[in-house]
Amino acid sequence: MTRKIVVLNPKGGSGKTTVATNLAAYYASAGFRTVLVDYDPQASSSRWLRKRASHLSVIHGIAAFEKNPRVTRSFLMRLPPGTERVVVDTPAAVAAQDMPELVRDADAVLVPVLPSDIDIHAASKCIADLLLVAKIKRREHRIGVIANRARRNTLALTTLLRFLGTLDIPIVTTLRDSHNYLRAAEQGHGVHEMKSYIARDDVATWQPLLDWLEKRFANGEAASATGLEAAG
Ligand SMILES: Nc1ncnc2c1ncn2[C@@H]1O[C@H](COP(=O)(O)OP(=O)(O)OP(=O)(O)O)[C@@H](O)[C@H]1O
Ligand SMILES: [Mg+2]
Repeated sequence: MTRKIVVLNPKGGSGKTTVATNLAAYYASAGFRTVLVDYDPQASSSRWLRKRASHLSVIHGIAAFEKNPRVTRSFLMRLPPGTERVVVDTPAAVAAQDMPELVRDADAVLVPVLPSDIDIHAASKCIADLLLVAKIKRREHRIGVIANRARRNTLALTTLLRFLGTLDIPIVTTLRDSHNYLRAAEQGHGVHEMKSYIARDDVATWQPLLDWLEKRFANGEAASATGLEAAG
């Protein structure tokens, strides 16, 4: 079954490409047939993929940054047969009206957020747009926030937690500010593919996110089996 995860936050530099590439690397190395879709004309994910060493598990890349909506739709037709995981990286400055198209059919939408006031304000707007413009229903629990480069117990983080709490949206994990992400970005791999004595602490922070995604996929299956999802 194909599962689609969209990484989205219009705020530049929040960690979308970092999350998308590391997630794709994890799924590929775990044996899933994985596709990485790059909607960003800056093509950071595509560049990362080109750096990937040939001995690593294959990730199929799709550069989907053409503006034509018919093109974005038809890329789905071009998924290789048997694709199990589709990870979608999106650009900065996505307009609210483009969100419905980007998150359509997504089993999960991940919003990485940096722990600054400006970033948290932007993330709140992003989440509001996902709910109101892209019409993701809160009770579908498809949205998960990732606190990126977070130092614990900052005031901004507490504010974010309170905001999300009122909306019943979880922070699915906290990623450390780590040199390993810079190295992984340069070398076309993910922290799960690094030597464990180097990346152990970072790998550990991915587990709550991976568990949340698995739960999402299982719930999605149950909901569509009972017709809940179709009923809206
Ligand atoms: N947890 C982290 N630890 C250390 N560096 C990080 C971390 N997350 C992201 N970075 C670095 O911060 C920079 C911005 O991250 P990234 O490219 O993932 O953000 P983005 O949201 O995709 O940006 P854009 O909006 O421009 O596409 C990159 O150099 C990345 O390597
Ligand atoms: Mg990016």
